[in-house]
Amino acid sequence: MAESNLVYMFFWLPVFPAVTIFSNLMTLSKSSIFLNMHYLSTAACWGTLVVLPFFWFFVYIYLEQVVPNEFGIAKHPLFCFDKKRKVEDLDDHIEGRNDNFQTINESGDNETGGKSDTGFIQMKSLTKRFGSLKAVDNVNFQIASDTVFTLLGHNGAGKTTVINMLTGILEPTAGDIIVDGISVRKNLDKVQVNLGLCQQFDVLFESLTVQEHLEFVCEIKNMPLSQKEGAVENTLQKVMLTEHKEKLVSELSGGMKRKLSLAMAI
Ligand SMILES: Nc1ncnc2c1ncn2[C@@H]1O[C@H](COP(=O)(O)OP(=O)(O)OP(=O)(O)O)[C@@H](O)[C@H]1O
Ligand SMILES: [Mg+2]
Repeated sequence: MAESNLVYMFFWLPVFPAVTIFSNLMTLSKSSIFLNMHYLSTAACWGTLVVLPFFWFFVYIYLEQVVPNEFGIAKHPLFCFDKKRKVEDLDDHIEGRNDNFQTINESGDNETGGKSDTGFIQMKSLTKRFGSLKAVDNVNFQIASDTVFTLLGHNGAGKTTVINMLTGILEPTAGDIIVDGISVRKNLDKVQVNLGLCQQFDVLFESLTVQEHLEFVCEIKNMPLSQKEGAVENTLQKVMLTEHKEKLVSELSGGMKRKLSLAMAI
């Protein structure tokens, strides 16, 4: 075996397997076995090999978005191009804002919409099946903005499943959720920017400080830099964690961790 082939095998093969294989094929093609084989120029081969990883990376990102899996909501296969879908979303937005629906306010009274024309959440015929089990069965309710809403139910009633569908962790089997006029099914990214979730358990990073956690949430929500500092300070004051803002999560008490989780949600 020629020395150059040994170099390919022991050095290039683990690093760039495709380059090595292609290069060796081209060498072979000059031998009698592949004498009649037409191959690309060396530049074209290298160009292809450079472009291919990016191509497959984009294919991977695209499939991640559109192929349904256990968690999250799969996007429409034409989500990048389909202008019609955007128009439908706008229709939903308008429909959601003008619907004459029933809301339940803090005092438990029913009232017709109109009071809250922004920030409300509508569950529309929401259904979730896990195999043969119907965990959520045709649920319909609305939550007005600026209200505290409590969802009560026995163990296994489907409360967490409803919240998971609201936040996009699970895809509804049927029905939809409209948040401030925007469909969770059609425009989850936009809905998620305006959602905060304080889970039953803390989801925190031990090696980050309190302030860094809140800055991280601002980043996720694409908050402009000019607003970030004020928002973080404001939220720290609301949950009374200002004096602990430089502390690492590992240095916080259980109650402080709960407060930080709440701060991240709001
Ligand atoms: N990933 C899953 N796969 C299969 N079944 C599930 C899954 N998640 C929930 N379920 C089932 O769906 C039903 C509703 O579960 P869910 O967790 O929403 O109830 P819950 O109202 O939050 O109950 P709890 O008050 O105990 O928290 C239950 O029967 C549960 O076993
Ligand atoms: Mg639950």
